[in-house]
Amino acid sequence: MFRVSFILLLACCGAMSATIDVPMLKMLNDREMPAIALGTYLGFDKGGAVTSKDKQLRNVVMQAIDLGYRHFDTAAIYNTEAEVGEAIRMKIDEGVIKREDVFLTTKLWNTHHKREQVAVAMKETLNKTGLDYVDLFLMHWPIALNEDYSHSNTDYLETWRAMEEMVKLGYTKSIGLSNFNKLQVATVLQECTIKPVALQIEVHPQIIQEDLISYAKDEGIIVMGYSPFGSLVKRFGMDLPGPKMDDPVLTSLAKKYDKTPAQIVLRWLVDRKVVPIPKTVSPKRLLENINIFDFKLKEEEIEKINQFNSNTRYTLPSFWQKHPFYPFDMVPNPIPDPFRSEIKS
Ligand SMILES: NC(=O)c1ccc[n+]([C@@H]2O[C@H](COP(=O)([O-])OP(=O)(O)OC[C@H]3O[C@@H](n4cnc5c(N)ncnc54)[C@H](OP(=O)(O)O)[C@@H]3O)[C@@H](O)[C@H]2O)c1
Ligand SMILES: *[C@@H]1O[C@H](CO)[C@@H](O)[C@H](O)[C@H]1NC(C)=O
Repeated sequence: MFRVSFILLLACCGAMSATIDVPMLKMLNDREMPAIALGTYLGFDKGGAVTSKDKQLRNVVMQAIDLGYRHFDTAAIYNTEAEVGEAIRMKIDEGVIKREDVFLTTKLWNTHHKREQVAVAMKETLNKTGLDYVDLFLMHWPIALNEDYSHSNTDYLETWRAMEEMVKLGYTKSIGLSNFNKLQVATVLQECTIKPVALQIEVHPQIIQEDLISYAKDEGIIVMGYSPFGSLVKRFGMDLPGPKMDDPVLTSLAKKYDKTPAQIVLRWLVDRKVVPIPKTVSPKRLLENINIFDFKLKEEEIEKINQFNSNTRYTLPSFWQKHPFYPFDMVPNPIPDPFRSEIKS
């Protein structure tokens, strides 16, 4: 008996020492969001959206849960909802977590913005994940599209009203926005009966989003930052201009805190109260990316990283520029459109 419990104790503490405790952020509906999320968009290649092979993503999410990740970011358009949901359910079945310990964010795709389409999309998401509810349902873009990807003029306020219904029906605990500009967020705030708790936007050293982040903060909206590594990693298989892993500003901070440049950048987001959404499928980098809660940057160090700002976006769907609700400034896009392959198909 003694021996059994001793072994159990060892097993328990061994597992615990490898688990990182992620802080929680209070949202304006009094619920809590874990301060880092694992991204699960696998990108695209010549064949279109990259899908997970042999349950690779499911296994990554299960490893992530063992390491302490409690927040996962997916979307209907990523084609990853099923494996993310499967991993969560398997870890619940293993007794490692309870449903309420994990936070699942997913997104409504642009082709389902009409009032009656939102419930259809929501139910399909729940069916794919195999869960009774998600924690956060985001409107992926303010842009509505028809099934053939031609522009639809469905107002995002109509979509928002339908998303509010999803909360009332218990399909999602919270709702929020993604890729909305300040005026569009303000419009939703003015007209809503349930406030958006979160705004997911591109945030990295080359697009620091000072204005939108401070506006969201004033409204009590939590900002989630996507593509957090910016130019540090290859984009569309290319090295694009901007700071790299060997940048002296980042390497000197990395040396000071005994961290990697990637960890410094993730911590820069955390210290600005932004929830980073790093994506990785590598076990080593999974641990690296979550191991950022035992140090803190100084104000002047945050400011130093802010200096990289050049308002450079990697998610810039310029083929939607003529849409009435296109959220970004009209600028030429020097890089391939991330959704172009979807558009062609
Ligand atoms: N709302 C939106 O419209 C929107 C748009 C874009 C993205 N997102 C979300 O944000 C997530 C992340 O965005 P993202 O994938 O564009 O960019 P990201 O997380 O900044 O970069 C991912 C790339 O960095 C590599 N990487 C990860 N950790 C690393 C580390 N510690 N050191 C070196 N390389 C590392 C990954 O390769 P390995 O996998 O090989 O490690 C991958 O190639 C997405 O998965 C998605 O959930 C949302
Ligand atoms: C999802 O829908 C399909 C088809 O209607 C059904 O066979 C399946 O059991 C559903 N899955 C879940 C988890 O509800």
